[in-house]
Amino acid sequence: MTTPASRCPFEHIQNPDLEAEQIAETTEITVKLLDKRYPPPKQILRGVHPKSHGCVKATFTINCDIPPDLQVGLFAEPGKQFDAVIRFSNASALVEPDTTETEIDPRTNEVVEVDKQGSRGMAIKVLNVGGEVLTDDNGAHNQDFLMINQQMFAFANTEDYLRLDRVLLQDNDVADRFFLPLLIPDSSVSDEQKQRIAKTLNIIKDDIQKTDVGNPLGIQYFSAAPFLFGTNKVMKFSAKPCAEVPPTQSPPRPRPDNYLRDALTGTMNEKDPLHFDFMLQVRSESCDFGPDNEFIENASSKWEDEFISVAKITIPRPQPEVDSEENKVHCEKLAFTPWHSLVEHQPIGSINRLRKDVYEASAKHREASVSK
Ligand code: HEM
Repeated sequence: MTTPASRCPFEHIQNPDLEAEQIAETTEITVKLLDKRYPPPKQILRGVHPKSHGCVKATFTINCDIPPDLQVGLFAEPGKQFDAVIRFSNASALVEPDTTETEIDPRTNEVVEVDKQGSRGMAIKVLNVGGEVLTDDNGAHNQDFLMINQQMFAFANTEDYLRLDRVLLQDNDVADRFFLPLLIPDSSVSDEQKQRIAKTLNIIKDDIQKTDVGNPLGIQYFSAAPFLFGTNKVMKFSAKPCAEVPPTQSPPRPRPDNYLRDALTGTMNEKDPLHFDFMLQVRSESCDFGPDNEFIENASSKWEDEFISVAKITIPRPQPEVDSEENKVHCEKLAFTPWHSLVEHQPIGSINRLRKDVYEASAKHREASVSK
C-alpha cells in the first residue's frame, strides 16, 4: 500500500520519506485502535464515523447549464444522471449519544452539565461513473464524495494526525494530551506545530462543539480537503440543502441518544423529494496557494472562493425502509474513501495522502471481522 506518484503540480511534500513513515504508523495505529475498541465477539466498526443515521438512495444529476470550463471529469456531460447512495453519520470515533450533555469534571470527579456537539458526516457514492478510476470499489467505478459539516478539517496534516492517534492509543481514546503543548512547554513540539494545535482547538471548540444540528438532511457539508479538477485546476466541494428541512432544532434536553437518526427517519417518511445543490470552489495554477502550498497541504485552511453549483442531488421520498435492519446491514457494509475517484478528481494534500491507506485498512479490518 503506497501513495501513488503524484500527478499534481499543486502538491508540496516537504519530506516524502518521513511522510511515508508517518502514514504507515497511522495506518498501524488505526487497526490497533479498532482491536481495542471492538474486542471479539464485537463486530468491528469504522475507524471514524462508526455511527450512522441512515443510508438513503439518491440521484446525482449534472446541471444542464454547467459552465463549459467546469465540464471536467464527473461533470463532463451536462444533464447526465447517475444513481447514488448517501450515508449520514457522526464523525466521532466512538458510538455515543449524538450530543454530549454531561461530563465528569476531572478536578472534582463530579458530573457536570455540558452541551457539546460533534462533527457530522455525509458520504455520497456516485455509482458506475465509467472513466478511469484511482481505486475501484469491489470492481465498480464509483466516485465517492466524503464531507463534514465544517469548512475546515480540525487536523492540518499527517504529522498532527499521527500525534493525535498516538495519544488516542496510549490514553484509551481520550484526546486531551494532544493539546498539552499549549499549556506545558514541550521541546519536541515546534512553534509552528503549536500554532496548528491552537487552531485545532479553535475549530473543535468554536466550529464543531457549538454547531447544533436538528436534522442531518437539513445542513450544509464540505470536503474541507482539496482535490484535482482535471490536470491544471483544483477543487473543494460542498452539498447544500435547496430548502429548509424540518426539524431545524434539536429536541429539548435530555435528548434521546439517537435523535439525528430519528429526525432522518421521520424526514424520509414524508412525501416529495429532497434536493441538495452540489457545488465547487475551483482554483487554477495562477491562484496564490500560500507558503509551502498551505492552501493544499494544510486541511485546516479555508478557501474563501465562491461556491458554484454544478450538480443536483435528489433524494426521493418516501423511503420508509431507511431504518430497517436490512438497510442498516447494507449501510454498514459500504466502504467510502476519497480514493474511490476518477483520476480527474484525485485527492491531494497531506491529509488526503494519509487517507488512502487508513481507509483501506479500516474497511478491510471490519470486513474481515464480519466474515469470521
Ligand atoms: C477532510 C478531511 C476528512 C473528511 C471530510 C472525512 C470524512 C469522512 C466521512 C464522511 C466518513 C464516513 C464515510 C462513511 O459514511 O462510511 C469518513 C470515514 C472515515 N474516515 Fe474520514 N474524513 C477526513 C479525514 C480523515 C483522516 C485524516 C482520517 C485518518 C487518517 C480519516 C479516517 C477515516 C476512517 C478510518 C473512516 C472509516 C473508513 C471505513 O471503515 O470505511 N478521515 N471520513
